[in-house]
Amino acid sequence: MTDTTIRLSRKKPDTFDGDLLIYTPFLNNKEKIIRGPNVVEQELDDAISIGDFKGKQGDTLLFYPSGSAKKKLNVSRVFIASLGNVEEKNNNKTRELLRKTGGLIATEARKTKSSHLGICLDNLLSSVGEDGVESLVEGILLGDYRFEKYKSKSSKKEKRSFKGIKEIVGFSSGSENNGKIEKGISRAVNSARAACKARDMANEPGNGWTPTSFAVYARELAGKHKMTCTVLGKGGMKRLKMGGLLGVNQGSSEPPKLVILEYKAPKKKADTILFVGKGLTFDSGGVSLKPSAGMQDMKYDMCGGAAALSAMSVVGAEQPDVNVIAIIPATDNMGGSSALKPGDIIKHYGGITSEIVNTDAEGRLILADSLAYGIKRYKPTCVVDLATLTGAVILGLGHHRTGILGNNQGLIDRVIRAGDKSGEPLWQLPLDEEYTEQIESDVADIKNTGGRPAGTITAAAYLQKFVGNTPWVHLDIAGTAWDFTKKSYIPKGPSGIAVRTLVELVRDWKKFS
Ligand code: BES
Ligand code: MN
Ligand code: ZN
Repeated sequence: MTDTTIRLSRKKPDTFDGDLLIYTPFLNNKEKIIRGPNVVEQELDDAISIGDFKGKQGDTLLFYPSGSAKKKLNVSRVFIASLGNVEEKNNNKTRELLRKTGGLIATEARKTKSSHLGICLDNLLSSVGEDGVESLVEGILLGDYRFEKYKSKSSKKEKRSFKGIKEIVGFSSGSENNGKIEKGISRAVNSARAACKARDMANEPGNGWTPTSFAVYARELAGKHKMTCTVLGKGGMKRLKMGGLLGVNQGSSEPPKLVILEYKAPKKKADTILFVGKGLTFDSGGVSLKPSAGMQDMKYDMCGGAAALSAMSVVGAEQPDVNVIAIIPATDNMGGSSALKPGDIIKHYGGITSEIVNTDAEGRLILADSLAYGIKRYKPTCVVDLATLTGAVILGLGHHRTGILGNNQGLIDRVIRAGDKSGEPLWQLPLDEEYTEQIESDVADIKNTGGRPAGTITAAAYLQKFVGNTPWVHLDIAGTAWDFTKKSYIPKGPSGIAVRTLVELVRDWKKFS
């Protein structure tokens, strides 16, 4: 992604000489348009009087200053994006509204090939506060994302090229709150960059982002933020008897990796959170081969791992008061001649045996080893796992909500709250004992599918066998990791889902009891 620089300026916005100056009026509770000091007063009046602009959320106008405005302004274009009714400053609806407005700004910047943006912050601050500036910036950066690495340069000469937003200048006359605004901006930059990095990993094809790539990036993060990185290869997995991860990898010539990244909080007596993310770099289904239509999307089957690792970049940068460990079991799922077969029995780390009924239910196999190992080794206070685990979650929740299940309502509620705050909604599914009966096997301790009914829940029931009494939640992101709800700040392709939810969860972490 572009490395956008963001800075604040106390100058008047009229002095801005970049490509696009942005101004965000809003409606008060009497539906009156509140504009604050405006740079294109007359033009906006005209648009309002002929009914082209009502100030509703999503209403936008683009002006090319001319006449008297041209004399006052140095900028080439002015973009007005209305916030509509802002109910309260610090609520989730307002946050989402601002991210969406940010997405509209990014869209307009792309359309007009504007790489230098100025934003009038004064009216924005009075309506939505510093928190609002954070969400707006987050929306701009998330919306500006494109993945063009493998596109050959086009031969036809374009008049101007656009490689993303280079600079954003926030114009704010007040000085007292600049510290707070800057903090908000830095949080927005951290979380948006992390989500975009997760999108980058996902956009890479199966031959571009391999298990080794996870290991390389984790090491890079460890070096940058003083975290500890451990990578287990096949040898290490064999010593630990991780039959799930090894089994899934059996049919592949691509070496598997178990990537572990540890962040230690400055405080001694801090809680420890463990993230476990499914890093399946390509899921062919194995011997239980998937249909070929749409199979290319299975390069996205590593989005859980991408989210867990990307969130660690923010953890490293922001240093929250909680220990955080991310484990990413990484492999692809192929059907080579030594591949796992239906009917085979594997033994997981810790000793539980499992009958493989369908080699396409591979995610739970690699997560099971990782959960059991992570809990035994690090004794976390709580565990969050994330995986593109079941097609069934798409049938239940569509592409609008991530499925969440777990064994501890307090932890489930925390994650749901973090998701709501981030614009990444979740929905809880039940995890009663009855579902566990569906994965009982005649020949082993358990089997790896529970049949068609409640596929998402029986997958979670499988994982539950490996977490014991440790508070645990499981996020099934199969419906949201790509093709997520259409929003201005979510470009086509992988969404980067759950990165910002995880970040929100650990920011200001309150001791868990
Ligand atoms: N990676 C898939 C789940 C998936 C499917 C994610 C579609 C996104 C879109 C997973 O490994 C899988 O294949 N699950 C099977 C499980 C079944 C065989 C019990 C599924 O959902 O069909
Ligand atoms: Mn599968
Ligand atoms: Zn899979």
